[in-house]
Amino acid sequence: MRIDVISCVPELMQSFLSHSILKRAQDKGLLEVNVHDLREFGTGNYRQIDDYQYGGGAGMVLKAEPLGQMIDKLQAVVQYDEIIYLTPDGKTLKQGEANRLSLSQNLLLIAGHYKGIDERIRQLYVTSEMSIGDYVLSGGETAAIVLIDALGRLIPGVLNDETSALTDSFQDNLLAPPVYTRPEEYKGLSVPKILLSGHEAKIHEWRHEEAVKRTKDRRPDLLDD
Ligand code: ADE
Repeated sequence: MRIDVISCVPELMQSFLSHSILKRAQDKGLLEVNVHDLREFGTGNYRQIDDYQYGGGAGMVLKAEPLGQMIDKLQAVVQYDEIIYLTPDGKTLKQGEANRLSLSQNLLLIAGHYKGIDERIRQLYVTSEMSIGDYVLSGGETAAIVLIDALGRLIPGVLNDETSALTDSFQDNLLAPPVYTRPEEYKGLSVPKILLSGHEAKIHEWRHEEAVKRTKDRRPDLLDD
């Protein structure tokens, strides 16, 4: 999968991309992430990419021309499955959407800043708008990283144990069951006996029951879906 990101602070993303699972995905050639600096298309001595909003009000808006030019340049060489704008007024990202998007070949992500991007870019280029939750971040980069992380780990071959993404929380609309590792007893608390029994079917059943219990308790809304 190839993911291009348009950002005005590309450095923000580099550390996340060069560690852990996202690094492994790129090293294995399963994921390519290119972060493009919007200032490349900024104008004037200061490479201006933002301007005051029409109608007045606090906060700058990312200008249409630099964004449009950068998208045009990228689209001249890549055919994107989707052009996604990360924004708090987008559709909230859920696991199902991550599963679907992980099957894409090429994605273009736009990270906004300040008050957002000129509405005409949304009308002309953006094919979907995504939020990572009901709160406002200072930029779309953190949201883009969240999306890339959620997608990257689902690409076949990225995780060592291929089944582990399938047993994550939210797959099957259930939260994950509790997990334990050694030692068997810690500060008076023991690992549930069933997990030491070696009885695969019973362990599977126990995990499912615990997942349902935890979901009913913490996120009953998931069971309604
Ligand atoms: N940009 C600012 N806040 C955001 C959010 N919650 N989700 C996606 N992009 C954002």
